[in-house]
Amino acid sequence: AATRYYTFNVKLQNVTRLCNTRAIPTVNGKFPGPKIVTREGDRVVVKVVNNIKDNITIHWHGVRQMRTGWSDGPAYVTQCPIQTGQSFVYNFTITGQRGTLFWHAHVSWMRSTLYGPIVILPKSGVPLPFAKPHRDVAIVFGEWFNTDPEAIIAQAMQTGGGPNVSDAYTINGLPGPLYNCSSKDTFRLKVRAGETYLLRLINAALNDELFFSVANHTLTVVDVDAAYVKPFDTNLVLITPGQTTNVLLRAKPNDGCPPATHLMLARPYATGSGTFDNTTVAAVLEYYATAGNIKSRPLFRPALPVFNDTAVATSFVTKLRSLASPEYPANVPRRVDKPFFFTVGLGTIPCPGNPTCQGPTNTTMFTASMNNVSFNMPTTALLQAHYSGNAAGVYTTDFPTTPPEPFNYTGTPPNNTNVSNGTKVVVLPYNASVEVVLQDTSILAAESHPLHLHGFDFFVVGQGSGNYDPAKHPAGFNLVDPVQRNTVGVPAGGWVAIRFFADNPGVWFMHCHLEVHTTWGLKMAWVVNDGPLPEQKLMPPPSDLPTC
Ligand code: C2O
Repeated sequence: AATRYYTFNVKLQNVTRLCNTRAIPTVNGKFPGPKIVTREGDRVVVKVVNNIKDNITIHWHGVRQMRTGWSDGPAYVTQCPIQTGQSFVYNFTITGQRGTLFWHAHVSWMRSTLYGPIVILPKSGVPLPFAKPHRDVAIVFGEWFNTDPEAIIAQAMQTGGGPNVSDAYTINGLPGPLYNCSSKDTFRLKVRAGETYLLRLINAALNDELFFSVANHTLTVVDVDAAYVKPFDTNLVLITPGQTTNVLLRAKPNDGCPPATHLMLARPYATGSGTFDNTTVAAVLEYYATAGNIKSRPLFRPALPVFNDTAVATSFVTKLRSLASPEYPANVPRRVDKPFFFTVGLGTIPCPGNPTCQGPTNTTMFTASMNNVSFNMPTTALLQAHYSGNAAGVYTTDFPTTPPEPFNYTGTPPNNTNVSNGTKVVVLPYNASVEVVLQDTSILAAESHPLHLHGFDFFVVGQGSGNYDPAKHPAGFNLVDPVQRNTVGVPAGGWVAIRFFADNPGVWFMHCHLEVHTTWGLKMAWVVNDGPLPEQKLMPPPSDLPTC
């Protein structure tokens, strides 16, 4: 196995989109940021240097970080932020994963511009479980804001209302021809007739799940969140923030006459009742070596579902199955040592002494919670507190294992207003087998929440609409080939059940990957204790770990 060294110099760079120029935080002046290319089993060493005025951390989203929680990156969870002028070396090994992940900043809303792909190739000499593609292309979805996202979220927190939405979606940083001023800022994928392309789809957008489709081309899904799946064909992909999806695109034997321009489009899947950016990003797929005047080419657009089509969203996600082959077995926990039931959703709290409160009512502001607890970020890192055995004043271990407030979907969505605040965690013994049922609740309308777990891949053993019924639903769980991933959409007005082995000692964040919901408190953390053997213990902290 090799060691791959990178230097990430975080600095401002002027970038113009939609005819609007901003000095945005970038890595090495690139937007989106550089691609990390590695193999399963390799060590990755990234020196991150902070040359901007804001605090920074980088999270290697989906990397399991076996025993190396210090390199996971969420600010105040596993580390104090890297301050201006300081640096920190992230050092971790890729274990048991192959496919696509991504890295992003993990403090406040800094990830709006600080993100890039992580490509994980199989170990050398190990073949892919599908025919080798001719080329490999990252398709990274993001959101562009004409004003500084840090100012947007600061203002929303002050007024208690929803933050302003983005001005465009982007593919590889480019909005594409359906936006003003953007026909030059279009990602173009040139393909050769008859060849196969592996598209590495990454949703790095802040706040929106996306539907994606390519005109006239069927896609074959082969891998999600760096775990192989049973291949299936589709015209449509649903991808939530925090998810990655590898699809094969087969270029046609010839592009017909006259040659055409095929659009690749993405736009939101949005439930809930808030405002959202309902615009469409386009990239262009076109063939090499086909004659004809580019201007007179016919233009094809794929059809995308309407923004709130939950039936289509459900039909896509329920097709996903682990490959579960002899080479890639699915190690699904069959027994459960630690069952949990968490409600997830938005809620409200009073606007203290704010006469112009802009929350759901003019006396309340938005909050978000799991089991009615809205998570308060501590001012020092949870992992350090855990490692030093000194949690007092940093966190408490009384996160409720079942919802303290009743929920019920019969009739109107449950009122989720009785929210408390705290920095509460759940402690797990080493290697416990854990099941978490996540149930959507809401204050206004049912809403899908892409829940992301750090430090683990989990199996999605069941999901459904309405209320979860512990007497009925477990009998239908898939323990044979459930999809394995790190981010799952809790269905709007429904539930999802996940299982994993707590085989990675440390402190692991779990949160909604819609950034505004994370800000509002839809987050919690697991503390996984060391096991008895030396190879079951969290490694000691690196000497350059930042201090708060
Ligand atoms: Cu991609 Cu905690 O995040």
